[in-house]
Amino acid sequence: MNELKVKMKQDYGSNPTTVRQTSKYQEEYVHPFVEKWDELIDWEARAAGEQEFFIKELKKRGKKKILDVATGTGFHSVQLLRAGFQVWSADGSPMMLAKAFQNARQHNYLLRTVQADWRWLNRDVHGRFDAIICLGNSFTHLFSENDRRKALAEFYSALKHDGVLIIDHRNYDVILDKGFRSKHTYYYAGKNVKAEPEYVDEGLARFRYEFADRSVYHLNMFPLRERYVRRLLGEVGFQRIYSYGDFQETYHTDNPDFFIHIAEKKYLANDE
Ligand SMILES: C[S@@+](CC[C@H](N)C(=O)[O-])C[C@H]1O[C@@H](n2cnc3c(N)ncnc32)[C@H](O)[C@@H]1O
Repeated sequence: MNELKVKMKQDYGSNPTTVRQTSKYQEEYVHPFVEKWDELIDWEARAAGEQEFFIKELKKRGKKKILDVATGTGFHSVQLLRAGFQVWSADGSPMMLAKAFQNARQHNYLLRTVQADWRWLNRDVHGRFDAIICLGNSFTHLFSENDRRKALAEFYSALKHDGVLIIDHRNYDVILDKGFRSKHTYYYAGKNVKAEPEYVDEGLARFRYEFADRSVYHLNMFPLRERYVRRLLGEVGFQRIYSYGDFQETYHTDNPDFFIHIAEKKYLANDE
């Protein structure tokens, strides 16, 4: 029941770089950080950066019934509702869902929210969806391979036979291999916020977020490599995986900030 208490302060103990647990995300999104999240992502700048990429990809495939599994403060749920999709909004953090509901209300939408951890998604979310979106560098919160495989298997199972999963993550390859730099255009587009890695190794990317009022928060995340994510998607059963770098086909992009994978479930038999 602890996750239902309003937490005000992050706590990583005396040795923050040793904190590498999947379930930590619920405590990381403390009330004041959630209240500041939209300063970090800046809805207008983010919408301009995305150029309706997700809406176009979903429409192109004729998808209508969408499950947003990483609703956060509701940015994509609201974009998709506005574009006419049927949307269900899930997240493991009740604090995030409360903020998302409030944000959507301001745009004259009522969100259908479900608190659900991806590892047990089908226990709490019922029905089959045309598409699942897991966006905004969310999958990076899973620290063990077992958790990643279980979450992807749950996503796969919540999709209709020809459903698609759209999932993204930071370009951790470049952060791990060459060091951090960012265009600040597509995701964390807020102009008065600094979002930078404070510590990185193959098992942890600890990011520091500093806001205009000098308040500082952190997130401990697992640095996902692009080829690894593509491999996992294939291994859980997705048949075709299209990857993009900053919304362009990857071969057009040199060192994108973010990778986006569109994984299609529809089975293609060898003899077809
Ligand atoms: C980086 S935020 C992104 C939020 C939103 N998609 C955006 O782009 O602004 C990651 C979100 O994933 C959620 N999350 C992380 N791990 C989760 C898990 N295991 N199950 C369900 N939600 C999870 C967090 O609560 C948080 O709302």
